[in-house]
Amino acid sequence: MRMTSDVAWLPYLQLLCSMSALWAYPFRPPLDLDVIPRTTVLYTGLWGCRRFSDAALNYSTLLLEEEAGVLYVGARGSLYALHAPNISGSRRTIDWEAPEDQKQLCLNIGKDNKTECFNHIRFLQRFNSTHLYTCGTHAFSPLCAYINSGEFKISSVFEEGREKCPYDPAKGYTGLIADGQMYTASQYEFWSSPDIRRNSPNPTLRTEDAPTRWLHEADFVGSALLRESVNNSVGDDDKVYFFFTEKSEEHTPYFSHSRVARVARVCKRDRGGLLTLQKKWTSFLKARLVCSLPAYEFHFNVLRGVFVLDDTGAQDAVLYAIFGLEWKSIKASAICRYSMADVRQAFDGPYMESTEDGNPRSAEYTGKIPEPRPGSCITDQLRARGINFSTDLPDDVLHFVRRHPLMSRQILPLGQRPLLFKRTVDYTKIAVHQVAALDGQMYHMLFIGTDEGWLQRAVEVKGALHIIEELQLFEEPQPVDSIVISPKQMSVYVGSPSAVVQLPLSTCGRYMSCTDCVLARDPFCAWDGKECVEITSHTDRSSLTQDILNGNEGCEESAADAPSLHRMRYVMAGDDVLLQCELASNLASSQWTLQGQELQGYGLGSGYRIGTDGLLVIGAQPGQSGEYACFSLENGVRVPVVVYALTVKQDPRAEPPVKATLLPPYTSPAPQSPHPAPIPLPPNLEFLSLRNMEAMYLSLITILGGLCLVLTVVLLYVGFCVQGRRGKYSLRAAARADRKKNTHMELKTISSHCNGKVDTHDGLLHIVPGEAQLPPAPPLPPPLPNSETEYTNGLSATLPSVLRKMNGNSYVLLRQSDGDTISPLYYSFTEELNRILEKRKHMQLCSKPDESSV
Ligand SMILES: *[C@@H]1O[C@H](CO)[C@@H](O)[C@H](O)[C@H]1NC(C)=O
Ligand SMILES: *[C@@H]1O[C@H](CO)[C@@H](O)[C@H](O)[C@H]1NC(C)=O
Ligand SMILES: *[C@@H]1O[C@H](CO)[C@@H](O)[C@H](O)[C@H]1NC(C)=O
Ligand SMILES: *[C@@H]1O[C@H](CO)[C@@H](O)[C@H](O)[C@H]1NC(C)=O
Ligand SMILES: *[C@@H]1O[C@H](CO)[C@@H](O)[C@H](O)[C@H]1NC(C)=O
Ligand SMILES: *[C@@H]1O[C@H](CO)[C@@H](O)[C@H](O)[C@H]1NC(C)=O
Repeated sequence: MRMTSDVAWLPYLQLLCSMSALWAYPFRPPLDLDVIPRTTVLYTGLWGCRRFSDAALNYSTLLLEEEAGVLYVGARGSLYALHAPNISGSRRTIDWEAPEDQKQLCLNIGKDNKTECFNHIRFLQRFNSTHLYTCGTHAFSPLCAYINSGEFKISSVFEEGREKCPYDPAKGYTGLIADGQMYTASQYEFWSSPDIRRNSPNPTLRTEDAPTRWLHEADFVGSALLRESVNNSVGDDDKVYFFFTEKSEEHTPYFSHSRVARVARVCKRDRGGLLTLQKKWTSFLKARLVCSLPAYEFHFNVLRGVFVLDDTGAQDAVLYAIFGLEWKSIKASAICRYSMADVRQAFDGPYMESTEDGNPRSAEYTGKIPEPRPGSCITDQLRARGINFSTDLPDDVLHFVRRHPLMSRQILPLGQRPLLFKRTVDYTKIAVHQVAALDGQMYHMLFIGTDEGWLQRAVEVKGALHIIEELQLFEEPQPVDSIVISPKQMSVYVGSPSAVVQLPLSTCGRYMSCTDCVLARDPFCAWDGKECVEITSHTDRSSLTQDILNGNEGCEESAADAPSLHRMRYVMAGDDVLLQCELASNLASSQWTLQGQELQGYGLGSGYRIGTDGLLVIGAQPGQSGEYACFSLENGVRVPVVVYALTVKQDPRAEPPVKATLLPPYTSPAPQSPHPAPIPLPPNLEFLSLRNMEAMYLSLITILGGLCLVLTVVLLYVGFCVQGRRGKYSLRAAARADRKKNTHMELKTISSHCNGKVDTHDGLLHIVPGEAQLPPAPPLPPPLPNSETEYTNGLSATLPSVLRKMNGNSYVLLRQSDGDTISPLYYSFTEELNRILEKRKHMQLCSKPDESSV
């Protein structure tokens, strides 16, 4: 079979391309790295959430002043001073929009009148005790100004900003003020080279652009000042670190390295060289940050966000970094953690060799290194030799620095592997907070924002992450632009295009039982015997129960954990019955017992099927009557959830039995018929009974099985649609596909991109999440009475159960149905997605079956 230009083929080709892109997902990560958030909290279920928004957009620049209790916000055309304890309360505003004539100029140079020709506030920092300093893009003509923070008014004439602030509001940019010195890094203008600058006071310093280029299309994501001069035995200087992704100049043996993640640093007291490197950094050095999955030859090379935690001093500082992939079409994120001591070690290590014009080669420099060591800060030792400032450095040292900005040693993450690897999520920002738990240990809590407006709270335990929960912060998906933590207000502030959100650091009251509280492993929360409480609110902590380390110990009293739900079901013989069992945790699995005996095997022949929603009894027989109990199994803890008394009546024409209890029949919020009569199905499926559907699936499997041979052949050709490096993956996948004869694939689930659109950009099929028209989250079911009788088989809820909305993403799930020689690639993919689909709970259900499922 050959590719033709026949239009009829196109949809199939696109589907194939997308499949290959998914199959070709290049590795099977260690499962323990792809952590699932334990609980999922939808927008409607947030607790203690306060919001701020005004007429402005793009609330992306946050500055928190803990002592004063003020949160300063830089938005588009406005600055705000908010009351940190409650940002919904009072506010002070500075309106600072670009004037019309400036906007017109911006339009004249072809910029976008909806996003670019405005004054986006990009820099907002404390300058001195009375003033803040701010810069805005000012419709592609940056300006800066001092703000009197007491009056919250712009207090000066505007200053030229083109040396300090990028023109483009979306350009990577970072900056800080340290002891009256302003450091910024960006590609300021479209046509200029990226640059790390110290703008004031004199002398202003910048990076070298010619003859040696120190930065190559660098995209900056963050910077940090580390006070390394404090208590330093050698009289070292404070240093400013910059984090960015740039075009790789090294020729490494890896396949996907057009871009690399970097850390660079400069010394704070650098004054540039006297003749060589005049007004340039003499202390600029950069090194590569590696974040890769061990044994998978797979590297995350795009830096998206960083956080430097230096609560315990600069010497012990830890860097948390979010990485993504270069390919826009595949969502994936990794979090790596580095010791800043390792970063320093790399800067003290060997240099990378460079060519005549100064471009790095992929080899270590082994020649003679001049003295004093090039790129180092001025220390006591140098001062003793009469070198008081960088301007005193000898020429050969400066020549060497200019030509060897790159270190040869790469910086590996602590533990030599990522803390977390997450598919299908693009993280954007991270903030980290250190919390003392009941066991006396300090734990690092990570707050991670996604490109779709979710916030994940995670705790790092023994070098691994446990994601306590994921919170949907916004109704409309939008990227998290900034995260700031306030231990004083016990709040986390999140900036986004539409609003600023303030959330409590913890919501322990959400956990209803001791086991729930302990399994959550939230360092802020503990069980006090009656409820899950914030440990900071308790002075006597001896009676509190918490287990961060293992997350399963301390809850002895099982009485409180007896199942609160008892239900009765009456059905006719031959009916299919669904016994629902909702698990609160995405990490829990359900276990069923009948008359106290564990139900074994939920396979096709057993008459039972277990799913995300509960237990399906297929064609119930009177012998299957009895007491069914559902248990939630999580982290070795078994908790009863619900007990059903199922009665299967033999005679289908018999009257329904007399009510067993005095309670009224249970009425579900979902549309359910009171009798096991016709199950409401979408109109186009009305002709199908459940059994017919099974038959239909079987024939689908058969048809797809046939299609499969065709697919394997076609896969060999799909390299055309995944060009370049990606092609390598698809060929590898195809090779595996080829090895595996007679594959049966079942297109089991296409999750709910009901509102999504199919984007065929790049010749690749991307399934794009809905354009902010997600249906409102389904209301949580009302509290159920302790005992209830149902005359339904409960099946009406089953149809959409496999179509789940998952964090705004969609999945195509392909299931293999033959037993032997399963390709590990296929297997892992299926297994992974199956696992995720099975685990996710409380997600929106799709109201109609997906059209794109073959
Ligand atoms: C925050 O302020 C708003 C507006 O003044 C008020 O409605 C809300 O109740 C306050 N919230 C809290 C938790 O104090
Ligand atoms: C932007 O320009 C387009 C076309 O020139 C115009 O239709 C639109 O109203 C403008 N939008 C704004 C916000 O000025
Ligand atoms: C802070 O800086 C501003 C602007 O340069 C200046 O006007 C003000 O006097 C300074 N305040 C102090 C306390 O130095
Ligand atoms: C500003 O907000 C708008 C609307 O949400 C968004 O489209 C745009 O990308 C944002 N711009 C920046 C620079 O964040
Ligand atoms: C510096 O050392 C002194 C004395 O050893 C100590 O009290 C102080 O806390 C140290 N400061 C820092 C920032 O480590
Ligand atoms: C460096 O500073 C010391 C002490 O302040 C001074 O004696 C010496 O002359 C200075 N050296 C140079 C080269 O300026």
